[in-house]
Amino acid sequence: MTHDPPASATWTKILAVTDIHLTTPDETIIGLDTTQRLKETLAHACMHHPDAEAMILMGDLAHHGRADQYARLRAVTTNLSFPVIPMMGNHDRRDAFLSVFPDAPQTQSGHIQTVYETERHRIITLDTLDGPPYHKGHHSGFLCEERLAWLSQALEGLNGRIPLVFAHHPPFDTGIVGMDLIKLRNGQALLDTLSPHPDAHLFCGHIHRTISGSTQGTSWTMFKSPAHQGVLDLSTPDSALSVDEPPCYGVILLPPDGVIAHTQGVYTDQVITADAHSLNAQGPQVE
Ligand SMILES: [Fe+2]
Ligand SMILES: [Fe+2]
Repeated sequence: MTHDPPASATWTKILAVTDIHLTTPDETIIGLDTTQRLKETLAHACMHHPDAEAMILMGDLAHHGRADQYARLRAVTTNLSFPVIPMMGNHDRRDAFLSVFPDAPQTQSGHIQTVYETERHRIITLDTLDGPPYHKGHHSGFLCEERLAWLSQALEGLNGRIPLVFAHHPPFDTGIVGMDLIKLRNGQALLDTLSPHPDAHLFCGHIHRTISGSTQGTSWTMFKSPAHQGVLDLSTPDSALSVDEPPCYGVILLPPDGVIAHTQGVYTDQVITADAHSLNAQGPQVE
């Protein structure tokens, strides 16, 4: 018996990978080799989602923002089956990044921001890196007037398309107080820019956790990282709390009337399929 393919088979698929934190071979983060974890993540994505239209790298690409770390990123992400859209996070440094990725999309003001359109959606990626000047230990984000004006313009003429906005730093508090201390420090300006667009959806990184919610009418989603993950600690004002959990990335599906965000864990164990027929045949086991 044959079945027609489901309508969802026609939906555009976008992959989101946030907070890669690439280091060099002799450096680990809480004992984790972030390059190896990125390789595993990309291998998983290429195997399971070769039909993805694009992959967005949502900032914190290199842990120390160094050119040699970006060179490793370039080597690992070359020859993927889909185009890669890079973004900046607080660990990044724009000049070092551009020295390795000179063809990355830039605005006239030199920020790493771009627009990518699909049939029914408009993807807008923002650069929330605060600087230059860059201050050591400063990890909150910022959108200057130039970047905000660019965003306002990018939201014009949508023609029925649903806007999907990507920003590394969340513009709101999550309750994880250590990270809330280093959010987008002028987040209200971003929320104000999005508020006239009730169908907009905001994607953020930075927290290294999968979280969803809405703030002042704007719905949003965050994904875990391929590297170290954040801790659900609602009281400690420490942004460096991390935990070794499996790598993750986002699988974003774009039906014509909305957006669906899945989170995909990268597990090395084989997937075990439940035998639904035998379960049905046996029924519940009652002593
Ligand atoms: Fe990060
Ligand atoms: Fe970050």
